[in-house]
Formats: sequence, C-alpha cells, structure tokens
Amino acid sequence: MTSLHFKGRVFVENFHLGVPFHELTPVRSKGLSKKASLHDNLIVEGDNLAALKALLPTYHGKVKCIYIDPPYNTGNEGWAYNDRVNSPLMKDWLGKVVDRDDLTRHDKWCCMMLPRLKLLRELMRDDGAIFVSIDDNEMHRLRCLMDDVFGEENFIATAIWQKVYAPKSSAKYFSDDHDFVLVYARDRDTWRPKPLPRTESQDAAYRNLDDDPRGPWRPNNLAARNRYSKGVYAITCPSGRVIEGPPRGSYWRVSEERLRELDQDGRIWWGKDGNNVPAPKIFLSEVKQGRVPQTLWTWQEVGTTQDSKREVVSILDFDTSEEVFITPKPSSLVRHMLSIATDKDSIVLDSFAGSGTTAQAVLALNKEDGGNRRFVLIECEDYVDNVTAERVRRVIKGVPNVKDEALREGLGGTFSYFKLGKALRKESMLDGTKLPSYERLAAYIFFTATGEEFDASKMRPERWFIGRSRNYDVFLLYAADFEQLKDMALTMDIARKLSRGTRDKLVFAPTKYLDQEFLHRYRITFQQLPFEIYETVDRLAR
Ligand SMILES: C[S@@+](CC[C@H](N)C(=O)[O-])C[C@H]1O[C@@H](n2cnc3c(N)ncnc32)[C@H](O)[C@@H]1O
Repeated sequence: MTSLHFKGRVFVENFHLGVPFHELTPVRSKGLSKKASLHDNLIVEGDNLAALKALLPTYHGKVKCIYIDPPYNTGNEGWAYNDRVNSPLMKDWLGKVVDRDDLTRHDKWCCMMLPRLKLLRELMRDDGAIFVSIDDNEMHRLRCLMDDVFGEENFIATAIWQKVYAPKSSAKYFSDDHDFVLVYARDRDTWRPKPLPRTESQDAAYRNLDDDPRGPWRPNNLAARNRYSKGVYAITCPSGRVIEGPPRGSYWRVSEERLRELDQDGRIWWGKDGNNVPAPKIFLSEVKQGRVPQTLWTWQEVGTTQDSKREVVSILDFDTSEEVFITPKPSSLVRHMLSIATDKDSIVLDSFAGSGTTAQAVLALNKEDGGNRRFVLIECEDYVDNVTAERVRRVIKGVPNVKDEALREGLGGTFSYFKLGKALRKESMLDGTKLPSYERLAAYIFFTATGEEFDASKMRPERWFIGRSRNYDVFLLYAADFEQLKDMALTMDIARKLSRGTRDKLVFAPTKYLDQEFLHRYRITFQQLPFEIYETVDRLAR
C-alpha cells in the first residue's frame, strides 16, 4: 500500500494508544445546564489529543458526523506541536513554533494530525462520516493521511467550497477562490448521504405545457452519446416530418419499440405543433424527492468567509474594526454538511472548535427540523470561554439585532462545560507504597467504565455503591487494606443484597464466588479489579 513518509512518523504512529485517560472536570458556571453531564452538548477546554482520548469511554463508536477545521499550516498561524512525544531528539524538533522558514513544517503538521485522526476514527459510528476543511498548503498530505487512517476505499468526495463571491483582482498569480472539504466514511458500504432539499429553481424547470394529469414535467433529450445498438432509427413526427436518425455521433436513448410505448402513455413531447424532435417527459412527481449532494458548494448556497466573519462579529458584539482572531467558517457551510450526514438524533464532533460555528449549526438545524442532535466541541486556546462558549451561550439565549429571526429568538438548548483535568494513571495510584483510597479508586473506575462524571457525594461505601450511570448502578468491593482485600469477593449473599431494584449492575471486585447463571439472574455484570491492584498487594505483603 502507498503510504506517506514524514519525519517523526515512527514516533507518532501509535502515540494515541499511550495517551493517558484524563479526568474531565465540570465547570458549572461556564455551562448552561443545571447538572453538568458528558451526555449533554459539550464544550471541552483542552488539547484535543488528550480530550479525544478522555471522551473515548463515553463516545466510542457513537459519533455520526465529525467536522474539523484544523490549522491549514500556512506558516502564519503560529502553532506549535506540543504533544509529549518522549524521544528527546523529537521533543526539541517538534516543540518549536512552525513558521514559513521551518523546512519541516509539513512533517510537524503530519505528526500533529496523524494521532488525532486515529482517535477520531475510534469515536465514529460505523455509519458515520468525517468532513475536513483544508486548502492547498496541506491538501495532498491530508489526503494521504486520510487514506492511511480511514482506508482509501472509504473516500467519498473532495468538495470545493467557493469561499468568496468575487475574485481577488490583486492576486499575483491566481485568485484563490475556494477551500476543499475532504469527506471520508467510516465504512463506505454502510454510510449513505441524506438527500438535500430540492431548490425552488430546480423545481421551476418543471412545467406542464400540455396539462398532463400527472403534473409538471420537463423534457429530456432523446439523443445521447453512449453507443446503443437499438438507438439508430428514423422517426416520423405527428406533423408528418421525418427525422432520419439521431444527430451524428449520438444514439436515441430508447429503442423504437420503447419510444412507441412511451408515446402511447403520453410521455413524449413533440412540441406545440407536433413537429419537434421527440422529448421523453421527466415528471417532478417521479424524480427523487431530494437532491443528491454535489461536490461544488457555491457561495450562494453555503456562504463566504466574509459572511462568517460578519456572523461572528454580530453575535459576539465585536467592534467590526477588530481583527477576528481566527478564520471562522460560515454556520451555513457546517449546516450543509450536517444536512448531508446527520439524522435528527446524531452526535456531531468538532475537535478544532475555534469560534464554535459547529455548535451554532447543530442548534440551528435542530430548531429548524425539531431534531435533537448533540455537539461535542474541543478547543485549547484561551478564548474557549469568552469566544467559543460565549457564542454558544448567546445563540442559545438569543442575539438581539440580528436579521435571522430564529437566532434573534434564541436557538434553545443547553450545554455542559468541562476542563481537561489530571491524567488518570493506574501507575501513580498503585505506586507500591500504599493502596489507593476507596474514593480515589472509585473515581477512576467509575469514569473509565462509564465515561460519566463521578460524584463522590452519591457514593455509599457501606453498601459498595459508587454511583449511577446512564445504564448501570455501579458497585465497588474494595478496601485500602490488603488483609481485608485478600478475603473480599462477590458472594451470593452480597449479590442478593445488591440485586434490589430493577437496574442493571456493574460490580467491581477482586473475585467472585458465584456463577454466570446467578449473575444473569441478578442482572450483574462482573468486572475483576485491575490486575495491578494485586501486584501492589503483593508488594505490600512482602
Ligand atoms: C481554523 S480554526 C477553526 C475555526 C472554526 N471552524 C470556526 O468556524 O470558528 C482552528 C482552531 O483549532 C484550534 N486548535 C488547534 N490545535 C488544537 C489542539 N491541539 N487542540 C484543540 N484545539 C486546537 C485552534 O486554537 C483554532 O481555534
């Protein structure tokens, strides 16, 4: 298989596997939800590599549509690769800010992207798709990386977004009028695009010149260029005019017999005087209700870069003269992708969130079609609160003085704000000097097993209960004392006590003394405590 080689590739190839899980700490004051939850709309503050990994327990295989708009690597963005790659040689090279003079800036960009793309793939549903904005700086390298990570058989399209409505006449060579959007499916055989709503201008091409009871139609061309063995014959029009055959180099697209059948069914238009080349009618009622997505996305349909700046400025009350710090995308562009690639209850992820355009697009589409899509946004820069989250707070509540009525009213919805917390490392918990406290182990286990926020106040250690997740009541049989721990097991007696209530139970314990049949009867899923616990117990006992 063809594969892209770049400096540093060997160091980052499997880097995503070693990234530790981090806690996600709720910051209630910054969200718009009564109770912060990882199952709400989300804004996560932090680097997206660690954040994507932290989201894995909750969102593995659940994301229907990913949109990312990573740095284009123009040499002017001032980004620095800051993943903790351990090789000292690599650290020195990778850590420097990437500018135009950096001859290895493309290698660094690939080092940054590869592990993130791998994690993004893990998060996708089998019928999911990913859309990536890019321009000519990295387009060809991105295409190779995407082929590597998603498989070239899952390539769907390269869409061209016409991002300006007028050419830049001051351009030295060519006016740069478009960006690309690369589209890949997680599995091309499973993914299908949604048809887009038909436009008024498309429907206007259908008329009913002969009052056909089947409704409006448009004439099709009878001649086609594809060779067709039954497609050469003379036709006599109702007026008596004889057409000797199709135009040179073309063929009638139906046989003589089929043309007669269509005519008998009133499906052929011969013109008002019955003298035209016959045209098969295409009825509006018989064409697909929607429109197939196209690879050319015009500014009229999805907006321009100017529209997007105006949009952000009007929502965030920026002074128009103020430089809009990032290059936002129009929310109509992201909405276009959502229309192609989401259902009403889909989860949408954007791990390079910038000004939060994706959140607005999700909420706007929900408001329009009564959907319940959810967004997950990740942003690492300082402006994550006063720009990314602030935009979302404002569009939810309503933005006065904007033209768009829905936006003025407020798009509605909630979101929870999380900050990337400490790394959860079993090694540091089980460092051999003492066993972790009940609460510390409970927090680690609850989070890594359910992906949900651990709330210590809900814990009832006297009955082993450590919390309730969306799907389970979770229990932990454990004590930070190795003498007690040695004798601890899930027994029939304990199983009976835990089995009160109708919910499924997830039980962590050193071992169990009952078989599968009883576990099933008591709706218990048994999980053995991490092996490292015993190593620590052994060390302490020595
Ligand atoms: C081109 S902007 C995205 C703009 C966005 N589509 C919008 O419409 O506002 C790229 C964003 O990705 C963020 N970013 C870059 N590297 C990141 C990382 N490692 N983790 C999280 N965010 C990152 C940058 O801070 C920047 O805000």
